[in-house]
Amino acid sequence: MPAEPPPDPRRILVTGAAGFIGSALARHLIAGTPHHVLAVDKLTYAASPEALAPAAGDPRYAFLKADICDGAAMAQAFAAFRPDAVMHLAAETHVDRSIDAPATFVQTNVVGTATLLDVATEHWRGLDEAGRARFRFLHVSTDEVFGSLGPEGAFDEATPYDPRSPYSASKASSDHLVRAWHHTYGLPVLVTNCSNNYGPYQFPEKLVPLMILKALAGEPLPVYGRGDNVRDWLYVTDHAEALLRVVRAGRPGGTYMIGGRSERTNLQVVEAICAEVDALAPPLPDGRPRHALIGFVADRPGHDFRYAIDPARIERELGWAPRHGFADGLRATVAWYLASRDWWAPILERSYRGQRLGLAVARQAGIAAAPRAAG
Ligand code: NAD
Ligand code: DAU
Repeated sequence: MPAEPPPDPRRILVTGAAGFIGSALARHLIAGTPHHVLAVDKLTYAASPEALAPAAGDPRYAFLKADICDGAAMAQAFAAFRPDAVMHLAAETHVDRSIDAPATFVQTNVVGTATLLDVATEHWRGLDEAGRARFRFLHVSTDEVFGSLGPEGAFDEATPYDPRSPYSASKASSDHLVRAWHHTYGLPVLVTNCSNNYGPYQFPEKLVPLMILKALAGEPLPVYGRGDNVRDWLYVTDHAEALLRVVRAGRPGGTYMIGGRSERTNLQVVEAICAEVDALAPPLPDGRPRHALIGFVADRPGHDFRYAIDPARIERELGWAPRHGFADGLRATVAWYLASRDWWAPILERSYRGQRLGLAVARQAGIAAAPRAAG
């Protein structure tokens, strides 16, 4: 049976709130719930303050520019806002960047999470009994901590950890820290592990937006390896709704897998994107269909072969199910990017031009790429 949800409204501190998923969550909390939100974000290259604009005018919403590694700033934020829940999404998130420069991933994802846990624990200890019973710390993590699947099977809450990239190893470390704070200090934590998200405001270094924008521009579409790696896709607002269910009704100490039962090979995803862009945008000048732009390029070092989530627990215990199938979610995403040039053109101009990342060029000496997973 689901635990009895704590009464509403709640005061929720969201870290990483200017990111792709954090901003979808903050918009959902303000537009669709009575909760109060303190949006905390360092505003790294990946942040989009514009994605928070719909929430910004609401009296239940406030924004704080701060680094989760800054314990004093976090303590001040907790003292001033007095959260009864933390939804922790702040992280460095791009696998390819973690291959080129892992140190930032260790700093934010590991040190930052430990810092936040310490501050949250001090805050939680200072609450009265009812406040302590009501408090939750939700850590938002990834399916990548479980490593690489072969052609069969799916990750569930009992799957052992086997991270393989600097990104996934840093997220695995943070998951372990969160559970350690629960077992050692009693902090009421929840951990979620979600599959690949897609949707509006995703930074164009990630597969789906990168391919949409390159297809639109008629540029080559760089598919790593042979395009047969498999990911399990979830529309971002479905993830936001799942996180809200977990923070309200999840069992303290519990873990929940989140995924949409929507596996695709990368080649299938890119072909579907090409078809949607052909359907919604003007044709290429030479009249070719956009799938003619697809090309195979050097594989990602250590590229995990397949991820798949078994979401049976969250479906059964918390009654969550995604609202979007892959076809309608992808169509909505392509339509959003076509209509949102004002958002992405300055990003391509100023901070990321769509170049290849993650070949570890500066690190090649002495570091061999891991062999592809057999299962
Ligand atoms: P994102 O890269 O779009 O956003 C991350 C946000 O965190 C940015 O706004 C950035 O400015 C902020 N941030 C980074 N370092 C910070 C620091 N030191 N202090 C404060 N803020 C900082 O990421 P996303 O895709 O929205 O992912 C959010 C969370 O969800 C991450 O924890 C990620 O591991 C997890 N997750 C993502 C996916 C996915 O497919 N994108 C899937 C599963 C889990
Ligand atoms: O599984 C959840 C994870 O999904 C999250 O934890 C990460 O934060 C998020 O970035 C995402 O990681 P991936 O590595 O799966 O996502 P990415 O969009 O970088 O790549 C998806 C797949 O597409 C992957 O198999 C690599 C491939 N790819 C990616 C790019 C950018 C290409 O073939 N070509 C590309 O240009």
